[in-house]
Amino acid sequence: MHMHKFEKIWLIFGTGALVVFLSIIGVSAFHLGHKPPSSLTIIDPQKVDTTAPFNKPGLNKVEGKEWDYELVYVASAFFYNPAEVEVPLGAKVKVMATTKDVIHGFQVVGTNINMMLEPGHVNEIVTTFDKEGEYLVVCNEYCGTGHHLMSSKIKVVK
Ligand code: CUA
Repeated sequence: MHMHKFEKIWLIFGTGALVVFLSIIGVSAFHLGHKPPSSLTIIDPQKVDTTAPFNKPGLNKVEGKEWDYELVYVASAFFYNPAEVEVPLGAKVKVMATTKDVIHGFQVVGTNINMMLEPGHVNEIVTTFDKEGEYLVVCNEYCGTGHHLMSSKIKVVK
């Protein structure tokens, strides 16, 4: 079969790129142990309300950790607890979230915080809110008839 030279080059390039990308994924997943950056801690979804820190949703000051506050969220159809919270400007905050029932989203609009909350897992992200204002938290995973109503608010104040 005759193949044009450029076609051959293109095929080799395409196959080569695929091999390189799959190798990178393989090495980072199995050799370096990379995983999705959340859902590493597990929790009994039936006992969220009595499991620390989810028995105290909201902003909690902590001592002796790399962050100043823990901002704890419990998601359930169709709301977040807390519904609204004030965070001091510039504070280092560890956001911790889980769900009691189905999969919910947790996206803080205007930031890079965007997590998928799965029952039985805890999502965590350490962040600093360095811009004053109101941030909307929305659910971006379809979770039922009230999905579009599911939101919360973070007020970053001086
Ligand atoms: Cu919760 Cu959509």
